[in-house]
Order: sequence, then structure tokens, then C-alpha cells
Amino acid sequence: MKIVILGAGVIGCYLGAALNAGGLAPTLIARPRVIADIKQAGGLTISDYQERQWQVGIPDMSASNESLADADLVLLTVKCLAVEESAKLLQQYCKAGTIVLCLQNGLGSDAIIKRLCPTLKIVRGIVGFNVALLGDGHFHRGMEGDIYHEPNPTITTALTSAFAAIDMTLLSVKNYEAIAWAKLQLNLNNAINALSNLPLKTELEHRGYRRILSAAMTELLVVTKANHLALPKLTHLPASWLPKVMKVPDWVYRKLSARMQEIDSQARSSMWDDLHLGRLTEVEYLNGAVVKAASKLAIDTPVNTALCTLIHQVEQHRRHEGLSAADIEKAIKKEKKKIEQKKGR
Ligand SMILES: NC(=O)c1ccc[n+]([C@@H]2O[C@H](COP(=O)([O-])OP(=O)(O)OC[C@H]3O[C@@H](n4cnc5c(N)ncnc54)[C@H](OP(=O)(O)O)[C@@H]3O)[C@@H](O)[C@H]2O)c1
Repeated sequence: MKIVILGAGVIGCYLGAALNAGGLAPTLIARPRVIADIKQAGGLTISDYQERQWQVGIPDMSASNESLADADLVLLTVKCLAVEESAKLLQQYCKAGTIVLCLQNGLGSDAIIKRLCPTLKIVRGIVGFNVALLGDGHFHRGMEGDIYHEPNPTITTALTSAFAAIDMTLLSVKNYEAIAWAKLQLNLNNAINALSNLPLKTELEHRGYRRILSAAMTELLVVTKANHLALPKLTHLPASWLPKVMKVPDWVYRKLSARMQEIDSQARSSMWDDLHLGRLTEVEYLNGAVVKAASKLAIDTPVNTALCTLIHQVEQHRRHEGLSAADIEKAIKKEKKKIEQKKGR
């Protein structure tokens, strides 16, 4: 089975190294700068929040798309904004029937790839943990969490035991849609984290930021309830409890957080990476996906709308990251006023 990872950045290199550690030899299609960095470092190193580390040498890497032609399974690990361009490459190079496991965060990018790749078998997947590049070819997984995918026996057979070699769990799930929304509920914090300019753990230890997250999560839960979707538990607490838990005092939260999801002090959201590097973010596929789904149901989403607006303002250099909770609350109040004014008309 020929496995190719298209768009090996943070997630692609981590998964590529994990598969190598598990005895497989995927080809990583990456940008020349990524290949040069890994060669310069003498190979890939991955580590996790439990302080385990694996070194796997230099993987099979290329900046060319030719290896897609022999692929049986492609792991697509580009960001949502690069999915359209990647989909065109996949359709151009891959043989009919090639399985593409799409590992983008948020909702909506799979629709693009399904439209542009009619001869390929598209399977949706979710990486349920954060990874950060520490430099020198070293990728660090900052929290616990599993990888989920829509049922596909080829993927299960090809990847499960390789990932298990580094204690990573791949789960084939029938209720994928509900899991995607449950993961989105957690990812609503990416925008708040990026705006705060703080590590995830530090940001979440501030009640002010958590209250905003609680309100953003509540908007999502109103939408999923209206769509009759029961969200599964992805942390140690049920999805429906999370908004309430976010509002508890800081000292209670610190006690509870260890039981929810282990996060180490280095972890940040990938949206923070994007803002930090001056790139456009995936916010429209995250908080924006809640806004879109809610608008179809005539549900108001001032919190997620304000978070999208603030992120776009930072992307366009009209605002700096490093916002306090009070700054974000101010933008939410403005959004609520707009909604009231519209309704009053
Ligand atoms: N990082 C995390 O902790 C994490 C956790 C869970 C899920 N995710 C999700 O996983 C996805 C990938 O995230 P990431 O953090 O791994 O992003 P990333 O580090 O930016 O990796 C994507 C890589 O793909 C490259 N790329 C784009 N188009 C390409 C092409 N046609 N050929 C070769 N390379 C190409 C990008 O290069 P350019 O930048 O030059 O375009 C970049 O190096 C996102 O949807 C993200 O939300 C991330």
C-alpha cells in the first residue's frame, strides 16, 4: 500500500513521522523549505505531552506531486484555504479510486474536495490534538486526543497498527458528523487563543476568556440541538457541560482542567501560528461555520460573528493580537447591538 501525505507541514510531518515509527514508509509532499529544514536537522523527531520522544531519520520527501500517481491512500494535511488548489492536484495526478483522507479542522472544506475530485474516494477525518513545530525537525504533540475518520476498511487496516506503535489511537466512527461538531466546539477556542496571544493553558486559566468561549460554545450547541445532533464526549466531560464548566472560578477550573484534557504549557492553537506568521486563518471554517449553519436556522450568533470579525481585523493588520477578554467582550457587545438594531427595523 503506497501512502502519500500531501501538504506536510506541522500535522503532516507529525503523522509522517508517526507512520515511520510504526514501520511504514509514506512519501511526504512538502514545500522545499520544509524539506530543507528536515534534511538540515538530520530527520524528524516527534514527542508528546507525556514526554515520550521518537526519532525517525529523514523520511521519503519530495516537492513534486509525481508520487501521487502511485498512491493508494493520500493523507491531505494542508490548511482549509489550500484545499481547493490541492483538490485540483489530486484530481490531476491520482488514479481513479484513490482514497483521500482529509484531515482539515472545521467544517466545509470537504465539500470543496468532493466537488473537485469526482473520481476519488473522499473520507473525512479529524486530528483531535494539537501539534507544534519546536524547530530542528522536532514536532511536539501538546495534548491528548485521538484521530477519527469516517468508516473505511482500507484506512483502518493501513494505519491503525502503525499509529498504535506510538500510542496514537485511530478510531473509525459511524457518527462522524456529530464528532466533527463536537471537535468544532473545542476548536472555537482557537480564535480566542490566537487573539489573546497566550499559550492555550495560560489563556484557558483566565475566566474572562473562558466566559467568551462558553458563550461561543452555547451558540454552537443551539445550532446542533436545532439540527438534532447529539454531540459525543471528546474530553473527559460531556459536550453539553462544557459551557457551564468554562464559567467556573479560576481555582475550580484549574482543578477540573486536568480531568478534561491534558494540555502542556507549550501548546498554542494553529490559528495563533497563522496570525503570528502573517497568514490568513481558517476562522471561516471554524467560528464562521457556526455562523453559517445558524443563519440557515435564523439563530443569532453575535459571539462567533465577533470572533470572526476580530480575526479578520488582525489578518488585515487593522488590529494587533494580544487582546484582553474585555477587548473581545467589547466587540461582542457591538455585534449584539447590530443584531438588535436590525431586528428593531
Ligand atoms: N497544527 C495543529 O495542531 C492541528 C491540529 C489539528 C488539526 N489541524 C488541522 O490540520 C490542517 C493542517 O494544519 P497544519 O498546522 O499542519 O498546517 P501547516 O503547518 O500550514 O501545514 C500545511 C503545509 O502544507 C503546505 N502546502 C499547501 N499546499 C501544498 C501543496 N500543494 N504542495 C505541498 N505542500 C503544500 C503548506 O505550505 P504553505 O504554507 O507554503 O502553503 C504547509 O507547509 C489544518 O486544517 C489544521 O486546522 C492542525
